[in-house]
Amino acid sequence: MLAGKRVLLIIGGGIAAFKSLDLIRQIRRAGGTVVPVLTRAAEEFVTPLSASALAAEKVYRDLFDLTDEAEMGHIELSRAADLVVVAPATADLMAKMAHGLANDLASTLLMATDKRVLIAPAMNVRMWDHPATQRNLAVLKADGVLVAGPDEGEMACGEFGPGRMSEPDRILGAIAEALRDGPLTGRHVLVTSGPTHEPIDPVRYIANRSSGAQGTALAEALRDLGAKVSFVTGPATVPAPQGVSVYPVETAKDMLAAVRRALPADAAVFAAAVADWRVENAATSKMKKDGSGAAPALEFAENPDILATIAKAKKRPRLVVGFAAETNDVLEHATAKRARKGCDWIVANDVSPATGIMGGSENAVTLITEDGAEVWPRMGKDAVAAKLAARIAEALA
Ligand code: C5P
Repeated sequence: MLAGKRVLLIIGGGIAAFKSLDLIRQIRRAGGTVVPVLTRAAEEFVTPLSASALAAEKVYRDLFDLTDEAEMGHIELSRAADLVVVAPATADLMAKMAHGLANDLASTLLMATDKRVLIAPAMNVRMWDHPATQRNLAVLKADGVLVAGPDEGEMACGEFGPGRMSEPDRILGAIAEALRDGPLTGRHVLVTSGPTHEPIDPVRYIANRSSGAQGTALAEALRDLGAKVSFVTGPATVPAPQGVSVYPVETAKDMLAAVRRALPADAAVFAAAVADWRVENAATSKMKKDGSGAAPALEFAENPDILATIAKAKKRPRLVVGFAAETNDVLEHATAKRARKGCDWIVANDVSPATGIMGGSENAVTLITEDGAEVWPRMGKDAVAAKLAARIAEALA
């Protein structure tokens, strides 16, 4: 997600500084490089050695680096990064940034950089609510500084409210969003994914075997091309992608509502395996055997067809892509489906058990467009996602 990206991470002096060590790990796990900078106050909370060991990079510190001729100069240091992240951003650091002070290494780097800056504020709730901090925040936002958090919750000082630094995974998502750059930059793409669960009673449901792997891979590929991705997902077995807006849903009806909320979009890809029917007479309490041997009679009602609904909607995205999972006569069914649902493309695949595609890591698809059918070789779901994302970028160019 952050392959080849370099983050200059300024760690401010707050109790949340320990979370920034985890942030270093997460950025590196996502493929990025981290160059840590510790303020003098930060060194009261974390050691330069731990930051340096986790980053596998030299740590820059206030006390020495500005005077050390052999080191990279502060101008160069601030510009070699793709993004400058301040986490935790203390009230003091925010004030310095808002007023353009440059009296130590961190504030000098922030003044000298020509890159975007993302701050993750962390402070006591009263300090956060203080008019001075709120004024500084407004100035920083107007200057184009990106802000992640703070979150609300219990604080180290025992108080409760907004001011906790966001968790590292959320900051990582904000970093990914800030570094988005590609042919889909500025485009909004909606992806549905996973199965839907249709309740029978409060503890039982009808579902299908979709893992959400293909939809997830697609959301990641679109994100990596720079798109803002809205990811509407049923209860999938694979974790949701990072750096996208996730809308978790259970049922087909919920999914349609979430899709409508996420619109307008430039393109929408419906990779979810939506249950065709829901139980119309779902029980509100757990169904019990009554000892007579009689099975409950479930009444089914047809679920809304999300793809067909959106393909005909007023807010129809410019490009609407459906998936067609079939077990026989794949091309024939998929071609008919494209016409019936009113979508632009259908990605058809054979999910008969012998293929091992459902729940597996590979996929063999045929892309059906108005120009006909294109058979793609069998490849990993990630590769299918990358190829499809590239085609979407081309179509929206
Ligand atoms: O289930 P079916 O083969 O009709 O699915 C084809 C396409 O329609 C898929 O892209 C699926 O996500 C979408 N679909 C939908 N809402 C439904 C059924 C299917 O969006 N109720």
